[in-house]
Amino acid sequence: MYSKKIAGQFLILACVAVFSAAQAQKLPNVTILATGGTIAGTGASSTTTVGYTAAKIGVDALIDAVPELKKVANVKGEQVFQIASENMNNDYWLKLGKRVNTLLAQSDVDGIVITHGTDTIEETAYFLNLVVKSKKPVVIVGAMRPATAISADGPINLYNAVLLAGSQEAIGKGVLVSLNDQINGAREVTKTNTSTLDTFKTPELGFLGYIQGSKPYFYRQSTRRNTADSEFDISNLNSLPAVDIVYGYANMNPIAFNAFVASGDKGIIHAGVGDGSLASTVVPSIVEARQKGVIVVRSSRVGQGIVARNGEADDDKLDLVVSDTLNAQKARILLMLALTKTNDTKEIQKIFYQY
Ligand code: SIN
Repeated sequence: MYSKKIAGQFLILACVAVFSAAQAQKLPNVTILATGGTIAGTGASSTTTVGYTAAKIGVDALIDAVPELKKVANVKGEQVFQIASENMNNDYWLKLGKRVNTLLAQSDVDGIVITHGTDTIEETAYFLNLVVKSKKPVVIVGAMRPATAISADGPINLYNAVLLAGSQEAIGKGVLVSLNDQINGAREVTKTNTSTLDTFKTPELGFLGYIQGSKPYFYRQSTRRNTADSEFDISNLNSLPAVDIVYGYANMNPIAFNAFVASGDKGIIHAGVGDGSLASTVVPSIVEARQKGVIVVRSSRVGQGIVARNGEADDDKLDLVVSDTLNAQKARILLMLALTKTNDTKEIQKIFYQY
């Protein structure tokens, strides 16, 4: 009688174990690559939401803080680096891009989440959008409040990002940026407020979708080439061509532009006023730069709208490229990658109209 009871208990335990294993198998496998930022930041007190230290908490602690992750994915964590994102650079991008491609090539990885500082999240997202060789979901997530703050947004943002990275809906949508229950596409997303939780927007064109009740809802999709459809390959690259940004303003002088050319830059993004206009004080420097083979892209400091080719400048005559709707920081990324393929301004212009 007694041994029958024990045998019965064993059977129940075995069934529970088999059921749990089957459930775990059904969940998507999502790898979280941690890179630092406010989502991993700590402050002196629970009310410290400015003046905290970014990039302090490791990936295991980030995962442990959200036990709910286990209900939506089989999660693994990796600390790729630990930085405040104002220190993001081309070397970190190459390292991250290569790691993402290695992981996504594995059949046991269904999606990737990258935790990142919000200051340059849009740049990393666009870089990965151009160099990731897979249609599997890649979601970049951050937080506006450090982990130690009252109502820290990191845990819910991480939960939503893991959910999104493991979802069927996110497959083939390009690299996504998700915070504040909203989903943005890498090409158009930008940070619009220094400190509020709803800082990430896609001006004029709108969010791709929302996350509500543990489910992603998509309404739009980027029309530009990305990820598996992109021609850019970083697998054999150890560096990227030097490209810098010059900002346009009233009383513009050419000192910064000339200094970048003298430093050996291969390309310069000119974030001009209005429709990418060039002050007459800078035009001679641009002509000289072109004679030296430096590619000059006319972007705009306005942040919205198309920079019209041959609009505010004779781009054909000056042999310039226009950025289309890319802001200057994203134009810089596309130009660096374009320069790994060609120095021909007509080819580079085609690239700017495709990506
Ligand atoms: C950073 O970008 O690393 C700091 C700011 C933030 O994550 O919100």
